[in-house]
Amino acid sequence: MTLPSFVSRHQFLIYRLFSLSGLIPVGAFLVVHLLTNASVLGGAASFQSRVDMIHSLGPLLIPVEFAFIFLPMLFHAAVGFAIIAGGLPNVGSYPYMGNVRYTLQRATGMIAFAFILWHIIQLHWLGAPLGGGRFDPHHATSSAATVIAPLGVSLLYAIGVLSAVFHLSNGLWTIGITWGLWTSPAAMQRANVISIVLGVVLAAAGLGAIGGLRSTDVAAARQVETRMDDFKRMMEGQAPGADAGGHGAAGSSVTYPAADAIDLRGPSEPSALVIPTPTTSSSPPGN
Ligand code: HEM
Repeated sequence: MTLPSFVSRHQFLIYRLFSLSGLIPVGAFLVVHLLTNASVLGGAASFQSRVDMIHSLGPLLIPVEFAFIFLPMLFHAAVGFAIIAGGLPNVGSYPYMGNVRYTLQRATGMIAFAFILWHIIQLHWLGAPLGGGRFDPHHATSSAATVIAPLGVSLLYAIGVLSAVFHLSNGLWTIGITWGLWTSPAAMQRANVISIVLGVVLAAAGLGAIGGLRSTDVAAARQVETRMDDFKRMMEGQAPGADAGGHGAAGSSVTYPAADAIDLRGPSEPSALVIPTPTTSSSPPGN
C-alpha cells in the first residue's frame, strides 16, 4: 500500500488523531511548560526546584520526552502541514469560524513549528551538535536568562510563545467543532469565552517568564543554583560540583556537620531555604 492510498483510506482516523494530539499530549504539555517557566517569577530557587523535579526522572526523561512530546508534536505538525498544503481535505472546516481566525490558526501553527525547532536547537541537549543545547538543568534560570538576554531573541521568543498560545487556545475552540462538542451558537459562545480565558492566562505566563528571565541577576541566580546543586549532591552523599566555590573538587570526600550553613538566598530572595554546608575532610560521607 502506498503512503497516499494509506492516508486516503484512513483520513478520518488520521484527522481525529491529529485533532486529539493537539490537545493531549501536545497542548497539555504546552500548558505545563509555560506554567513551569513562569515559576521563574518566584526567583531562581523556585524555577530550579521545578526543573529538578522534572530531571529527577533521570534516564527515563528521554523516552518520556520522545513518547509524549516530540513524536506527537511531529505527527501533529506533519498532518498540519499536509492540511495546509491541501494534501488532506479539511474535514474540520468550520463554517462558524471567522476567516481571520481560520487563517491565523494555520499561520500560528507554522510560526510555532519554526519557533519550537529553533527553541529546541537552542536550549535542548539535542541541539548541542548544532552549537545549541545551552540550557543547563543544574543552572536553569541563569542559563536560560543568558540565552534570552539579547533583545532580538526575547522578541522572537515572545512572538513564538504568543503564536503557540493563540494556536492552542483557538484550537481548543475548533476541537469542539471537530468532535461535535459544541453545536449551538450559545454553546460556541461559551466555549469561546473559555478559549479566550485560557489564551490570556497562558500568554501572561509565557510573557511573564520571558520578563522574569530578562530581569534576572544572572550571577546571583547562579550562586543560588550552585548552592542547591551542592545540597542535592550532599543529600546523595556526593562531593559538591566543580563550580561550588572551590570546595569539593573531584576526588575529595566530604562530611556534613550541621554547624556551618549555606544560605540559599540570592540578594533578591529573602525567604529562601537555609541548608547545612558540606565541609571537605579526609573521612568519607556518613563516617
Ligand atoms: C505548540 C504546539 C501545538 C499545539 C499545542 C497545537 C494544537 C492544536 C489544536 C488543539 C488544534 C485544533 C484541532 C482541531 O480543530 O480539531 C490544532 C489545529 C491545527 N494545527 Fe496545531 N498545534 C501545535 C503545533 C502545530 C504545528 C507545528 C503545526 C504545523 C503547521 C500545526 C498545524 C495545525 C493546523 C493546520 C490546524 C488546523 C486544522 C484545520 O483547520 O483543520 N499545529 N492545533
